[in-house]
Amino acid sequence: MGSYRIRQGRTLAGDFAAPGDKSITHRAYLFGAIASGVTAVLDANDGEDCEHSLAAAEMLGALVQRDETSLRIGGRDLRMRAPDGPIECGNSGTTMRLLAGILAGQEFDSSLTGDESLSRRPMARIMAPLRLMGAGISAREDRLPPLSITGGPLTGIAYESPVASAQVATCVLLAALTAAGETRVVLPGPARDHTERMLPLFGAALQIQTFANGGRAVTVQGGTRLRGTSLRIPGDLSAASFLLAAAASAPGAEVTVMGVNTNPTRSGLLDVLQAMGAQVSHARPRVECGEPVADVTVRGPEKLRAFDVPTEWVPRLIDEAPAWIIAATAAEGTSRLTGASELRVKESDRIVALARNLAAVGAPVRELPDGLEVTGAPVRGAHIEAHRDHRIVMAFAALGCRTREAMTFDDVSSVATSFPAFFDTLALLGADVEEVA
Ligand code: S3P
Repeated sequence: MGSYRIRQGRTLAGDFAAPGDKSITHRAYLFGAIASGVTAVLDANDGEDCEHSLAAAEMLGALVQRDETSLRIGGRDLRMRAPDGPIECGNSGTTMRLLAGILAGQEFDSSLTGDESLSRRPMARIMAPLRLMGAGISAREDRLPPLSITGGPLTGIAYESPVASAQVATCVLLAALTAAGETRVVLPGPARDHTERMLPLFGAALQIQTFANGGRAVTVQGGTRLRGTSLRIPGDLSAASFLLAAAASAPGAEVTVMGVNTNPTRSGLLDVLQAMGAQVSHARPRVECGEPVADVTVRGPEKLRAFDVPTEWVPRLIDEAPAWIIAATAAEGTSRLTGASELRVKESDRIVALARNLAAVGAPVRELPDGLEVTGAPVRGAHIEAHRDHRIVMAFAALGCRTREAMTFDDVSSVATSFPAFFDTLALLGADVEEVA
């Protein structure tokens, strides 16, 4: 991939399809790999992260057949084949954390590696419960990738995760399938619930208890088997969020994302855009893959209002914090995002990456220990340091829709991890997108 220069073009307008939801695609591939029979997956995310999950499934003996329109996975009914080397997870934390749950209960040893960014991301959060279940698992400094897993018989546990992480819950539930007895995992607060929506489509019975604070407990019986199924993956709201936030920030803009996932555990940014004065409407509501889906239209008002994101909304927009800066810089006044310290352990330290680049584009910004304070101001094109993080590139590229000078980047290749067609889509909606060698 070369690079791109982005500047203001015409007012954003039009319809687009987001790539398949990344979180849901990972689950479809990995659950398909451990199910019995065939799982057909339509409209999967075509980015590199999910390709790592699919390659891992193949390395563990799942049969993958794909042509132009369909992808089919022949699963192994929980008994995976020993891989012939370390499994490379690339930039994908979801791949590594979910695979660890599958591998812990196998009859062989395995190791999981990642790129430079993934090698800095915390793994103790999954190591602790897997060890309690009886798995042998070691890591660099006992907390960082690569991971070495000694597979073996597991025992069900009751586990209260200190972090409200969907990846932790999913890892434990996957390990629980091969464990003896019952496993109950408790999340102390809200987190995305794609696993709980998808496992029943594979025939698994789960018991779910929800708590007043948005947390939940999920229980599964050891020995639960999955049966292959057919899944159509909804569009990814996280990928669409950059384009929707750009539309909200451009007076007169009107942009529709077709067939996007509107799962309430993920839709916090739409609520924020609305609270800031943008018009957000849903059409053709339907259900795909156990998830609510709709065509979502965002219209940009004359002016956005500053808004402090309530901390209880943060888990519902944690991946959209980079997109939030597009609206926050366009609003009248100062907006705050707090209670978001998880941003420091994503593909980059997103609080640092956003604060530095916001300063470069001329937006008044204050870095907080657990978030950011951003004051609306005219922004200018600048050279963006992407910190090898796809969401940092997409946020500042979409911000470039309203700068006269071009937004340029040190490296845009990370966009391929989640939304390979991002720059084409941005151009289609009206931004001035120039490809440079
Ligand atoms: C994901 C869960 C979230 C999210 C990540 C994908 C998932 O992380 O930020 O991009 O697919 O389960 P946590 O597990 O930390 O909640």
